[in-house]
Parts: sequence; C-alpha cells; structure tokens
Amino acid sequence: MKIFRNNAELMQGIQNLNCKIGFVPTMGALHSGHISLFKQSLLETDKTIGSIFVNPKQFSPSEDLNRYPKNLNTDINQLKDLGVDYLFVPSIDDIYPDNFEEIDYISDLHGILEGSFRPSHFNGVVQVVYRLLKLVHPDYLYLGKKDAQQLKIISKMIDHYKMPIKVKSCEIIRDQSGLALSSRNTYLSTQEKLQASTIYKSLCYARNHFDNGNRSSSEIIKTFEKNLNDQLVKNIDYVSIVDETTFMITNGNIENNALLLVAVKVGATRLIDNVELLV
Ligand code: PAJ
Repeated sequence: MKIFRNNAELMQGIQNLNCKIGFVPTMGALHSGHISLFKQSLLETDKTIGSIFVNPKQFSPSEDLNRYPKNLNTDINQLKDLGVDYLFVPSIDDIYPDNFEEIDYISDLHGILEGSFRPSHFNGVVQVVYRLLKLVHPDYLYLGKKDAQQLKIISKMIDHYKMPIKVKSCEIIRDQSGLALSSRNTYLSTQEKLQASTIYKSLCYARNHFDNGNRSSSEIIKTFEKNLNDQLVKNIDYVSIVDETTFMITNGNIENNALLLVAVKVGATRLIDNVELLV
C-alpha cells in the first residue's frame, strides 16, 4: 500500500491511473464498519484509495476533537493486510491551506436532526468531503448507512455540483450485541455498552411493530422509547422517522420507505443509529 502524506504525493501517485477508483474517506480509528467499506470498494473497483483525516471543522468547540481516538499505525496495518492500494493521510494545511475558500453549499437538511444538535457539523462535513473529492477524483465514493443524514447530504452535494461520482451506500456493521460499530464506542464502559445495546434492540422492536402493519409514526416511536434502557430514555436527543428518499420528517402515517433514526447519549458519549422501515 502506498501512503501519500501530502497533496503533492497524492497528485503524483494517482495522476496516471486510468481505471475505476473507489474512495473511502474516514477519520481513522478503524473498526469493522470502516473495513466493510474498503472491502466493498476492493470488490467493485480497480483501485481503492482511503483517507484518514480528523476534520476539525465538523467538531464544535464543546465536542471531542482533542480526544478523538487515533490509531494510525494499527489503521495502516489493517489496510495493508486488506490489500488497499493507496492511503491519503493529509495534514491540516493540505486540506485547509491559507487560501482555502469554503464552498457555500447548504442543503435543506443541514439544520434538522443531527444538525439541530450539532449546528456547524454538516457544514464541516461538506467542506472536507468536497475538498477530498476534488483532490482524489474518485469514480465511486463509499459511505456507511450508519451516518444516514451525512450520506444523504453528501449525495445531494455531489448532485448539486454535478460531480461525476457514484455514491455507494454500505450496510451498518454491528457487534454481537447489535450495537452499531463506531470509533466513539471506545469511550463506553462495560456497563454503558450494555445499556447502549438496547438502542438497536429497541429499533428492532419498533421495526417489528411496523412490519406487523402499524403505520403510525408516533406509535412506532413510542415502541422504541418503551423498549430502550430506562436510563437512556431521558437522554434521547431525538427519535424521528424520515422519508427515505426526501429525508423529510414523517408525522402521521408512514406511506413510503422510511428510516427510524435515533441519537442517544450514553453517559458522556453520543451515539446514533437507524433502521429502515420498508413498506
Ligand atoms: P468516520 O466516522 O470515520 O466514518 C467513515 C465512514 O465509515 C462513514 O461513511 C461512516 O458512515 C462509515 N461507518 C462508520 N461506522 C460504520 C458502521 N458501523 N457500519 C458501516 N459504516 C460505518 O463519517 C466520517 O468519518 C466523517 O464525517 C467523514 C465522512 C470522513 C468526513 O470527515
């Protein structure tokens, strides 16, 4: 695996690649969720490029930027073992040089759900992803369904700028208890992990309720809340149902394929998860 430590090395390393390039952007501390994206790209494209960059712009001052887990050597070894072709590990100046100009793309989804709890988050995400895409020029971009709103906003941004990139959305990878893998799970104590495992279990209860014919969004949400660990119920940031295509919040009856999305604080750690509700 070739590692590019700056923009110049990246440019030089990929300039003559005349083949289908798959790109997997990450913030590192890689787990099996990230690895599944790399595996899919390796299967579907000729060359796979990953990136590791902890993007300060998507963290608010009160968030965990300074203690975000870092494991660069382990990450590199995992990607080498997998057979990933290239890894881009830019510095902050490569991504945000002095003359950096932000793009002014703001989608109608920036301010809802995650965006209402993390107001500058999606602006930070679109800035870094746009910049990375302009540097890497991939044909395919691999993103996880775990971050469903991010996936939707990035897809909309790519459409907006008519970038010739196909977004590939990858299934959520979970541990044995059902907890969706996340770099932030390393913050959880054993007790908190146990509590956190009720998030997915409760999503499944709610989805069963839906699959048994209940179409009322408020009842599906109530089923989720009823099954969640008691400690966590008071720490729900949001639990919402959105139309899978438009991402608009569904009140009343669920008529189209939808997503049941949640954000819950477990101790000091904020976790997100979702399941599809298919009509
Ligand atoms: P990060 O949290 O490192 O995630 C990188 C990619 O891995 C994202 O597309 C995310 O959805 C996916 N992912 C994370 N956990 C997953 C899981 N359990 N199953 C499947 N996929 C999973 O998301 C980011 O970084 C950043 O916002 C980024 C897009 C890199 C921009 O900075």
